[in-house]
Amino acid sequence: MINSIILGVGSKLPSKCLTNDCLAKMVDTSDEWIVQRTGIRQRYVLEPGQVISALAAEAAKTAISNAGISAHEIDLIIVATTTPEKTFPSTAALVQEKLGTGNCAAAFDINAVCSGFVYALSIADSFIKTGQSQYALVIGCDAMSKIVDWNDRSTCVLFGDGAGAMVLGAKRFDTDESEKVGVVAARLFCDGKLSKILETSGGTSTTCNSGVIVMNGREVFKRSIEKMSMAVQMVLSKAGLATDQIDVLIPHQANARILNAVAERLGLDKSKMIDTVGDFANTSAATIPIAWDYGLKKGIIRKNQNIVLTAMGGGVTWGAAVIRV
Ligand code: UT7
Repeated sequence: MINSIILGVGSKLPSKCLTNDCLAKMVDTSDEWIVQRTGIRQRYVLEPGQVISALAAEAAKTAISNAGISAHEIDLIIVATTTPEKTFPSTAALVQEKLGTGNCAAAFDINAVCSGFVYALSIADSFIKTGQSQYALVIGCDAMSKIVDWNDRSTCVLFGDGAGAMVLGAKRFDTDESEKVGVVAARLFCDGKLSKILETSGGTSTTCNSGVIVMNGREVFKRSIEKMSMAVQMVLSKAGLATDQIDVLIPHQANARILNAVAERLGLDKSKMIDTVGDFANTSAATIPIAWDYGLKKGIIRKNQNIVLTAMGGGVTWGAAVIRV
């Protein structure tokens, strides 16, 4: 049986840092309020003229180098983003050009907002398991600073920009099941009836621009906890694992209070959860691969662990995945 294994991970943040104190000069807010309600201390945003495909390509180069392969071996690029550089071509095509991979088999974007990385990972896993890809590059990148309303204090304090990338490779496991590593299970969900709780005020085919983020914060808060914990339970059941077999949980980094509530609901020790929201804020589709890279660098993610990812975002979309490393 072919399985998708994680070969390399990388991430890239813009160099411009906006602290809570910087924001307090722009809107009626304070460092104390933001830290207390969200855990966020700062976020990174693109400099004028910087483009998201460049950030994504930097993250991808690191992931490819860590995977120990050449960019030419990549035959699939999936970019999860809600803030594409252009309406078309896809950001995946622009990343492909920057990597110089040549004619890779397929390159496309997907939009599942903050759940985008879990969706993209699951799609790449299916390509690999069905023999359509040998080496897949999965990227989560977003420039949320371009679609927040900088006059709305209830949303502009939450988001940041960034990119994270992961290289998946096909590996055949013929004999010992216990040695099997890679993507074990994934579950994806969407409920369009909830679309209004987190949306943009426009779009290319309506207002001819992206619009800005409009959010019912309390509703998103409640649903995030409910959907992420439910998705983890469902994916664990699909994988035949119990909660106490989770070694590391990487939830979408939306708000420290949401993360803590998810861990609590699952009965999981918070020390098993990666929390980067204080340093990088909510970078939408990029939070999970950025947090994974952070976990590797800090020695939190090690061999023979069960890593569980979960996310919830606009759509409303949500999902979870179990990966054995
Ligand atoms: O990927 C998903 C993306 N979205 C999210 O993760 C958001 C989920 N929701 C949340 O994280 C929280 O709902 C927020 C952090 C957005 C808001 O926290 P809250 O505890 O739900 O506050 P609230 O909306 O109930 O507002 C309480 C007060 C209000 O003032 P009044 O009406 O009580 O006078 C707000 O106007 O806090 C005020 N407020 C602020 N004050 C200072 C809202 N934003 C701010 C702010 N600074 N930035």
